[in-house]
Amino acid sequence: MIYAITNTKGGVGKTTTATNLACGFAQRNRKTLLVDLDPQAHATQCFMENRPDRDVGDFIMDKPSQALKSIIPTARENLDIVPSTAKLTETAELLSSRIRREERLMRALEAVRDEYREIILDCPPSLNILTYNAVIAGDLLIIPVQPGAGAVAGIDPLLETATELRDEENIPYRILITMFDVRTSRTNVIFEELLEEYRRRLLKTIISKSESLNQANLAGKPISEFAPSSRGAYEYDALCDEILRLRIPSRP
Ligand SMILES: Nc1ncnc2c1ncn2[C@@H]1O[C@H](COP(=O)(O)OP(=O)(O)OP(=O)(O)O)[C@@H](O)[C@H]1O
Ligand SMILES: [Mg+2]
Repeated sequence: MIYAITNTKGGVGKTTTATNLACGFAQRNRKTLLVDLDPQAHATQCFMENRPDRDVGDFIMDKPSQALKSIIPTARENLDIVPSTAKLTETAELLSSRIRREERLMRALEAVRDEYREIILDCPPSLNILTYNAVIAGDLLIIPVQPGAGAVAGIDPLLETATELRDEENIPYRILITMFDVRTSRTNVIFEELLEEYRRRLLKTIISKSESLNQANLAGKPISEFAPSSRGAYEYDALCDEILRLRIPSRP
């Protein structure tokens, strides 16, 4: 399965979700590939100390037959990464002059897909050509949203873009509530009302706001290792299980 973790809003927990899902799947003995599509390279920094020679820009721009060359094993069992670097910003510009520029990631992934059970795409916080590539390549879009002003504003434009790009009416997607804070009860009530129209697409697992998740990110570690008995570890573990139970068909 290919999961695109995407929301045009910044700082909603995309990378935290991508890295913890990737580690969770790998720990479940599922060979997993994490693809970092964000020039900020936050996901990459969790798994690599040195700047890589080849990055996801090469993965996308090279011929699909060369795609394996841009994949780097991590120190974790069952987990490989296609890293990002700041160079990715140039790739986005180069892509704009290419034919079928929105499909290049999908083609590259087709070439390596048989090697992996799960592929996770960590998207940048914008609706640019890299996000278009992820939206086309994904079997399922996972949209993290954080309660607060404008939390759901980006969902419909993203889905409309996906419908256009994929030429498909029923975009497979789920919404994940992240950084949920029980103390902001008024905000939460308004948020739940806003989410009502997406109710059937909500994942049951909710990720709470937690300092241990924030600290784990700062330490560049998955929460399952940084604080294994924390609430965040429990919630991301439950999220892995819930996602693996979904019956979303992968595309041929
Ligand atoms: N559940 C959580 N509780 C508390 N802090 C969190 C939680 N999830 C993420 N954070 C923190 O919030 C910040 C943003 O998280 P993250 O990088 O995952 O979001 P993002 O959507 O990938 O951001 P960007 O749009 O910049 O790529 C980080 O500092 C992270 O440590
Ligand atoms: Mg991110």
